[in-house]
Amino acid sequence: TIALGVLVSGSGSNLQAIIDRVGDGSLDADIRIVIANKPDAQGLERARKAGIATACVRHDEFPERESFDRELVRLLREAEARFVALAGFMRILTPVFLTPFAGRVINIHPALLPACPGLRAQEQQAGHGVRLAGCTVHFVDEEMDHGPIIIQAAVPAYADDDEATLGARILEMEHRIYPQALQWIAQDRVQVVGRQVVVRGASRTMGTLW
Ligand code: GAR
Repeated sequence: TIALGVLVSGSGSNLQAIIDRVGDGSLDADIRIVIANKPDAQGLERARKAGIATACVRHDEFPERESFDRELVRLLREAEARFVALAGFMRILTPVFLTPFAGRVINIHPALLPACPGLRAQEQQAGHGVRLAGCTVHFVDEEMDHGPIIIQAAVPAYADDDEATLGARILEMEHRIYPQALQWIAQDRVQVVGRQVVVRGASRTMGTLW
């Protein structure tokens, strides 16, 4: 079982997928706390409904990223979270956060990295006219959307897709691969060798195509 903190900024549908997989026994996680950087993040409501501790740390109340990060670290430690899942968390984290949680921060990004990093990846993909879109769960390092990839899923993109239709297709896959990646970590099957993530006992194709 992993003691997990989850950081959200918005809707929290990935958080919900994680909560649901814990609920049905397919993810061995103890969600210690959900933290949002905005008071109106719907993810906070989802956490409360599930009886999970919540906190809101408003980034706009901190003078710089470092003091905001320090407060996040404090709360996560207090909640005894060992791993941190970013689930639609739209703030860049500094070494103040990433050093104490080195190798234990996981992110989901709505594109097949290293394509389309950064903001509005769904729009980037639809606008570019890609034929394969997708999502990526990866460990977080100090470069944005860059760390070792744990799992990816591809979905088709069609000529008549827009940001919304493509985004919905991607999101459905996000909800499958994020709990899966976390479960591999919970089972202590994940090893990082350079840029490669090796998942013990998973078939060679797991984590590449769904
Ligand atoms: C998800 O599509 C997630 O991949 C994306 O934000 C959305 C959050 O949805 N994250 C990023 O773009 C990070 N750069 P959710 O709040 O419903 O989980």
